[in-house]
Amino acid sequence: MPVPIIAANWKMTTTIKEAKALAGSIRSRLEKLKGIQILVFPPFPAIESVLSILSKSRIAIGAQNMYFSDRGPYTGEVSPEMVVELCKYVILGHSERRLLLNESDQEVALKIQAASKYKIKPILCIGETFQQKESDQAKQVIERQLYAGTEYLENPTDLMVAYEPIWAIGTGVAATPEEAQLNMEYIRACLEKRYGAESGRKIPLLYGGSVTKENVSRFIYQKDIDGTLIGQASVNPDSFVNIVTQAAKLV
Ligand code: PGA
Repeated sequence: MPVPIIAANWKMTTTIKEAKALAGSIRSRLEKLKGIQILVFPPFPAIESVLSILSKSRIAIGAQNMYFSDRGPYTGEVSPEMVVELCKYVILGHSERRLLLNESDQEVALKIQAASKYKIKPILCIGETFQQKESDQAKQVIERQLYAGTEYLENPTDLMVAYEPIWAIGTGVAATPEEAQLNMEYIRACLEKRYGAESGRKIPLLYGGSVTKENVSRFIYQKDIDGTLIGQASVNPDSFVNIVTQAAKLV
């Protein structure tokens, strides 16, 4: 089994002070754990402090978003050139940005392209709403988001894809591992079609949406699930450490 990836999306939930405390706590408790890849995504203002706390640890850091232009008059935006000075990972196309900030497939595609230009590894997030699931459109929606988001990405070597059903995010109602596997098997097939079987097979797929220490192993155990993207349960050091510890047991 490949080393599972556990990614922590801290969203807009920590001040710099809280982010530092969280980073310090998880570093000291996860330092010695092997057989797991850990990524944390603090809010922008906290990245530098978290970076210094986690320096020389096995925990890597990423940004929760970035703009696609190199630089220019885009008040409030952060460019890939700025992100890459700090970290090598970025979450792109999260459903909260798509829904609350009207981020379009086209913007996500440009951001994925920019990440590739700067050798930043993107986690492309895709997933259907509850209505889309109920009307049997999940596969159609995730296929559209996947192909649109990777429209300008020729080489998928650094790409990761997170399947995050919107109805499962922050609700405490996760998809069942079997249901997630079915959709992620479909994502895998789309990636193989897009990039060829060999490259498509290697792209890590993460499940996100109400992952806890109780369900993490059952997700990672599925054939097409290589890791998880965690929101709520990742900002509590105890629950995050428990999740990572459970996942590391599977290797
Ligand atoms: P959640 O969020 O774990 O709180 O459901 C997941 C995510 O939004 O990435």
